[in-house]
Amino acid sequence: MKNDNVIYPQPFVKWVGGKRQVIDKIKNKIPSNFNDYYEPFVGGGAVLFNINSENIFINDINEQLINVYHQIKNNYKELAYQIDCLNSEEVNSIRYEKLRELYNDKIINKELDLECAALFMIINKYCFNGVYRVNKKGLYNVPWNKKTKVKIYELDNLKAISKKLQNATIKSGDFLNLLKTVKKGDFVFFDSPYAPLNETTFNSYTQTGFTKYDHKRLAQEFKRLDGKGVYLMLTNHNTKLIRELYKEYHIELLDVKRAVNSDASNRVGKEIIITNY
Ligand SMILES: C[S@@+](CC[C@H](N)C(=O)[O-])C[C@H]1O[C@@H](n2cnc3c(N)ncnc32)[C@H](O)[C@@H]1O
Repeated sequence: MKNDNVIYPQPFVKWVGGKRQVIDKIKNKIPSNFNDYYEPFVGGGAVLFNINSENIFINDINEQLINVYHQIKNNYKELAYQIDCLNSEEVNSIRYEKLRELYNDKIINKELDLECAALFMIINKYCFNGVYRVNKKGLYNVPWNKKTKVKIYELDNLKAISKKLQNATIKSGDFLNLLKTVKKGDFVFFDSPYAPLNETTFNSYTQTGFTKYDHKRLAQEFKRLDGKGVYLMLTNHNTKLIRELYKEYHIELLDVKRAVNSDASNRVGKEIIITNY
């Protein structure tokens, strides 16, 4: 399944927890042979775009992000055109707020369409650190990164992603919904939101919305799939909770520099890769 002469597409968004910088380490651990590929927390797709599999199944709970995958799959040229129309002038704070307002109107009106995808991609490049954060009403509220002109996409890259997604099943919802059809010999890569490094504050509330209970549900699913003979890989922070949940499996440490973190002391942290093979 590995072919290192291939030029792989690049993620079309900057995404918190994106695996771009550890992709080589992850690639080295991908099983050499498997059937279908599943990624239930796909985010920016850094790992997906490096996978050679005919049948791909991806999911993320962020339905606006998943709308972008659908639009790239079906309409990448029109998406590029929409982006050009919306991003023709230099961005300043007033223009950024206007774009964000247009995007939030899409959320309020539940319009998951081409324009919503274009706004998503533009805002992702003009917001602070590519952070995706919404308020209690579900409206996007990340401030401007003070850049006035940024390249939003490369057409060839969108084309390559579109090609890659032609046979893909793309869903939006809780991770468990994607995994019902996984069979023996398939490969699942799990990159859920991180468990916090400081576990004392980790009860029901989390910044990512992914709770301790969710990490336990995920570990149960990992175990269920392991019992079926599925190849499994999972990455997360090296915390007591994660080590405890996956103590029966192979755990390897990784050094990762974290750009999106306000606490400088947390910028270099240990992450782990867990496999069942
Ligand atoms: C660490 S990020 C994935 C990063 C991705 N591997 C990349 O390279 O960009 C985790 C993702 O899980 C998604 N997520 C959070 N809770 C979820 C859930 N219950 N089910 C599915 N996806 C979820 C988030 O929207 C986010 O995109």
